[in-house]
Amino acid sequence: MATKIKSVFFCQSCGYESSKWMGQCPGCREWNTFVEEPVKKAASASRSASRGTGVLPEISSPKSLSEIVLNNEERYDTHIGELNRVLGGGLVKGSLILVGGDPGIGKSTILLQVAGNLSGDSKDVLYISGEESLQQIKLRANRLGEFGNNLKFMCETNLSNIEETVSRVRPQVVIIDSIQTMYNESVTSAPGSVSQVRESTSVLLRIAKSMDISIFIVGHVTKEGQVAGPRVLEHMVDTVLYFEGDRHASYRILRAVKNRFGSTNEIGVFEMQDKGLVEVRNPSEFMLEGRPLDASGSIVTCSVEGTRPILIEVQALVTRTNFGFPRRQANGTDFNRVNLLMAVLEKRLGLSMGEYDAYVNLAGGMKIAEPSLDLGICLALISSFRNKSIDSDVIAFGEVGLSGEVRSVSMADLRVQEAEKLGFKKCIVPKALLPKLKKSCPGLELIGAASVADAMKLI
Ligand code: TYD
Ligand code: MG
Repeated sequence: MATKIKSVFFCQSCGYESSKWMGQCPGCREWNTFVEEPVKKAASASRSASRGTGVLPEISSPKSLSEIVLNNEERYDTHIGELNRVLGGGLVKGSLILVGGDPGIGKSTILLQVAGNLSGDSKDVLYISGEESLQQIKLRANRLGEFGNNLKFMCETNLSNIEETVSRVRPQVVIIDSIQTMYNESVTSAPGSVSQVRESTSVLLRIAKSMDISIFIVGHVTKEGQVAGPRVLEHMVDTVLYFEGDRHASYRILRAVKNRFGSTNEIGVFEMQDKGLVEVRNPSEFMLEGRPLDASGSIVTCSVEGTRPILIEVQALVTRTNFGFPRRQANGTDFNRVNLLMAVLEKRLGLSMGEYDAYVNLAGGMKIAEPSLDLGICLALISSFRNKSIDSDVIAFGEVGLSGEVRSVSMADLRVQEAEKLGFKKCIVPKALLPKLKKSCPGLELIGAASVADAMKLI
């Protein structure tokens, strides 16, 4: 009797596994992401045979805390300050880092720059590409500058070959571009499938940990669902970085969504120029560039990303609706939050916005869902509704509750200091924070608002 190859269904967005096909993934709620994949694996070599040969470590025995020796984690300087910050202070030796993002956003570019910088520091770097030919890589490298001889390139997609080469060459840093092109012979499904991507990552994880090599893995985020996205391997790696930003705008944001060696949600800001990605040292200035002064519906607010405050302009446009059903739109911030804030304005402040369309936009294309933006969004909406502009040297932040009260937010001192640094004169803050903030920022006129109605009187 022929043996049936077992197959299971995987969600290509989050890796959810199911024995039957489903239209919507119960894990990530995406539609139409399930694909069937065979799960037949070639018989793996006996584990006991490979023990003690250096392939697998000896079976570890349990240890008490006092027996565990701490060795300071060694970090490499990537010479890109923004990247070092996102990584938590440099690249940790032996760590596995996933760099995700849309195709064409700049993943290969930044990793080639990192590879160049590290090799300049006499580290041996191996850049393995499954996407581009060596000539294409050279063309890109020529745009980026000079590269030393410590940096080696290789076009390869077979993981056993990669493992063999890495154990022979023993580089300190390896770059895999991209995980969706790699394949492992022991898995029968095609490159880019969920099981292939997972299996390949586990091989890389083993290489990183057993040989103490730092490995960067590139993972494309694809909307079409042709290949498994990087989310399916987030749990396996030490650090997950995502590149965000509008492909048509020049700036890019690198965000840490998971980091075993540093704080998450830390961001790095870059600008794509003709010589590769260049760090943006002062993102607030960058985000506020070209801001209209004295236009209604615009106010500057402050968000804290990781440990870094960023000033951002909130724009709102409230216009009479032409249809019976008013339109609401939010760009860069949470749509449901905007709806909720409009309901608060309607009920608590008596602004009847039911006959108006409302559009809210965070200028610069950044995506922020922090509640401290609430007060800024409310004031921008009110300003546009009344067609009354807010002074351009005013900034406001605070969380807005359902009864229209303005609530405190964390790291307020960082926010006011950033506002002062960029030349703002007045700052509307949650009233509860006023006494504390007065000390940290004497040069700024601080106004405490207990509710949105309070804040509204100021504009
Ligand atoms: P790339 O790093 O190839 O993207 P990914 O690896 O994420 O798919 O980035 C390609 C884009 O960057 C492409 O649109 C061209 C642009 N680019 C520059 O603008 N300047 C440069 O110096 C380089 C190398 C690329
Ligand atoms: Mg690329």
